[in-house]
Amino acid sequence: MKIIITKDYEEMSKEAFKIVKDVISSNSEAVLGLATGSTPLGLYQNMIKDHKENGTSYKKIKTVNLDEYAGLDYSSDQSYVYFMRHNLFDHIDIDLANTNIEDGKAADRIKECERYTKLLDILKQDIQVLGIGSNGHIAFNEPGTPFGSDTHIVDLTESTIKDNSRLFERIEDVPRQAFTMGLKNIMHAKKILILANGKNKANAVYGLVKGEVSEACPASVLQLHPDCTLVCDIEAAELIK
Ligand code: GLP
Repeated sequence: MKIIITKDYEEMSKEAFKIVKDVISSNSEAVLGLATGSTPLGLYQNMIKDHKENGTSYKKIKTVNLDEYAGLDYSSDQSYVYFMRHNLFDHIDIDLANTNIEDGKAADRIKECERYTKLLDILKQDIQVLGIGSNGHIAFNEPGTPFGSDTHIVDLTESTIKDNSRLFERIEDVPRQAFTMGLKNIMHAKKILILANGKNKANAVYGLVKGEVSEACPASVLQLHPDCTLVCDIEAAELIK
């Protein structure tokens, strides 16, 4: 795993942007695997700025997102589809028809997982952007998720519900289940870019880089990927220096 440690969040976001921009520059039809959460927001702001200032086009780019809360769709501003439109897609020239995410409101959840897995087999990510949960989860693959998993429904752990409750009015409002790309679907990306910042990610970053490769820490599977880069700030890197 390649590791880039930066002085702060701003520099982390700029380094991440350089890596994503390289992929787009070498292939204007690239498939970008994207993530939600606070961590990639700075990366998305850099992409928007570059689009506006340098005209980088996303017209032929396709995207696949990692995960979505079960029961939420665009009508909820807590949904991940809403997050992506407001924080990235509405500010670049991407065709929304080329953007993909699980349908949180699908009537048949199992069928929806199968549909998304089939789609991912066709839209193999040229790069997959990831954040990391404080318990080492990636996307919504919580500890214990099999490395061979495809898109599935998860019961969120109490620690993830607590972490993510900061974005909801009340902790009771956080959905208890989510759709997530599986670890196998993440690992088949050609390139992986994982981002982390802040002290509360230091333990998870240790597990990602130096921990035993084990389903107890889902992010540790990335040690087995042939082209994975971690970009993190000095606080998140506290235990791996
Ligand atoms: C959520 C998302 C993950 C994300 C994680 C960390 O659980 N499903 O994809 O990486 O939170 O979020 P943040 O970047 O806000 O710390």
